[in-house]
Amino acid sequence: MSTTPQNAIRHYLQFTDLSADEYAHLFARAAEIKRKFKAYEKYHPLADRTLAMIFEKASTRTRVSFEAGMYQLGGSVVHLTTGDSQLGRSEPIEDSARVISRMTDLVMIRTYGQDKIERFAAHSRVPVINGLTNEFHPCQILADIFTYIEHRGDIQGKVVAWVGDGNNMANTWLQAAELLGFTVHLSTPSGYEVDQAIAGLRSSASYKIFKDPQDACRGADLVTTDVWTSMGYEAENEARKKAFANWCVDEAMMQSAKADALFMHCLPAHRGEEVSAEVIDGPQSVVWDEAENRMHVQKALMEFLLLGRVTA
Ligand code: CP
Ligand code: NVA
Repeated sequence: MSTTPQNAIRHYLQFTDLSADEYAHLFARAAEIKRKFKAYEKYHPLADRTLAMIFEKASTRTRVSFEAGMYQLGGSVVHLTTGDSQLGRSEPIEDSARVISRMTDLVMIRTYGQDKIERFAAHSRVPVINGLTNEFHPCQILADIFTYIEHRGDIQGKVVAWVGDGNNMANTWLQAAELLGFTVHLSTPSGYEVDQAIAGLRSSASYKIFKDPQDACRGADLVTTDVWTSMGYEAENEARKKAFANWCVDEAMMQSAKADALFMHCLPAHRGEEVSAEVIDGPQSVVWDEAENRMHVQKALMEFLLLGRVTA
């Protein structure tokens, strides 16, 4: 195995933390790492390395994919939550970062504000990965684009329709569009628009806004959505149910998209709310591949952050 180690610590806090060239490398590595996994080929480049996983919000996919992925790479994991660590008893995030990063090699955090993960990273001796914040979900978009490439090839020049909340997933899709050269058709209910400054975009050149979600889907290569109410916003649930009633991806919306358009959802999904059962369980949906690919792309990401560019 040949590697080109990193000179400085690299964090993965938002999608723009890697370059287009580094994404090309990661997608190729994810494909190779997935091949090895399917062939039961032992691959332990992270033997004796430890990943700390800190969850301040619930998770199924992120927990399982990082934990299983790290074991498959030969490493081990420590699982912490707000409730069972001193994080829940007001130990400063900076102190937690100093301590946890002296005992582990890599940290994954799922938390609320992006500022919290940035403060952690600023005091960490080891790479920090964003496992979802209120603002971003870069590991999910990494998996989504890898899934698109597996099914349809390069995403450059393609159209992704986003139907729903201007949330962490929408922001991250927009960052990815700017970096990798595709367009996002955005349709959000009024009052739930993306904020270009929060999304950290350079310009509005890579997205178009549509009032009607059906118009956003017209000619799209990929249609995607997410829950109406993200974690941390539960108090707004009733108001959101009213505001989002027309933002349900159904068969009519899929018919507006290209005939070979894919449907994705980061999951968990609520059938009958943001997506109909016919669409998520239908022939254009690739949501189970998308979920599985979280593990393969994150293994490639952990390999990259700890070992640099592995070429064999
Ligand atoms: N998509 C995703 O991040 O799922 P979990 O909330 O289950 O981790
Ligand atoms: N936008 C959702 C994604 C869940 C994986 C949330 O933040 O709850």
